[in-house]
Amino acid sequence: MKKYGLIGWPVKHSVSPPMQNAAFQTIGIEEKLYGLIPVKPELLKDTYKNVLIKEYAGWNITVPHKNAMSTLVDKLDISAELSGSVNTVVNSKNGTKGYSTDGYGLEKALEKNFNIKLKGKTFLFIGAGGASKACCTHFAEQGVAKIIIINRTIAKCEEIAKNIKKNAPECLIEYYENPSDEINSNKFSTIDAVIQATSMGLNSNDKIPLSLKYFNRNTVIFDMIYKETPFQKEAKKAGFSVADGRDMLLYQGMKSFSIWTGKPAPEEKMRKALYSALL
Ligand code: ATR
Repeated sequence: MKKYGLIGWPVKHSVSPPMQNAAFQTIGIEEKLYGLIPVKPELLKDTYKNVLIKEYAGWNITVPHKNAMSTLVDKLDISAELSGSVNTVVNSKNGTKGYSTDGYGLEKALEKNFNIKLKGKTFLFIGAGGASKACCTHFAEQGVAKIIIINRTIAKCEEIAKNIKKNAPECLIEYYENPSDEINSNKFSTIDAVIQATSMGLNSNDKIPLSLKYFNRNTVIFDMIYKETPFQKEAKKAGFSVADGRDMLLYQGMKSFSIWTGKPAPEEKMRKALYSALL
């Protein structure tokens, strides 16, 4: 039986194996099919050719390989083509096909945590890396009215904006360098949710990516990092509704499982396994 796994560098702290193995168990697979595949960036191409396509029926991809994987697979699903990022690959007799399930994962997590549906809404993304790009392009495709992006490196905002203007021109897009004098609360008075998509907060002594003084209290805050960060703590203390990234991880993983197996993913079993692994 061919295996599944998560490829990344570093990858050892990932909680995807217990979550995916719980799902495989519900379709009668008792062995631990899904494991970790640590691969340094310079070895990605060789590992793809000599290991992944020979031994694996499917895999997930995390930092820093999501963009590079999109150049290696035989075919791209529209989700991956638009975002230039691949976090799920299926390997079948027809070759390899890459998908991006991050945007779907965030969409479902916002619905679950805050009852927010995307259509017609305005979102502020802090960060313009791979995860932000995948989610912004998915959101624009799904009929979001406006996306504002704030990032330290403005060129990455420009790239996302270009992509959205080309593929979903009806979605308004604005972006600002962070920090900058242009950032002020008037610009954010109509946003429905803030999405924290930088890696700031992975370490407990990290700074806050953007001051909370710009947001009014009925704006909800979703942080893609799936443990409590200084940003989340401060936002809760100030009275905001806050969710961490665990449900995004759950829903992107459920979508991957369905892509690989063609079967519905067992949400509660996967959630239980994921939440306990995060304790
Ligand atoms: P991912 O795939 O998880 O999105 P990434 O592509 O490395 O990871 O993106 C990380 C994001 O965190 C980027 O928006 C990055 O800002 P830059 O584009 O300017 O690099 C942001 N980030 C990371 N460390 C940061 C820091 N110390 N200050 C500000 N932004 C930071």
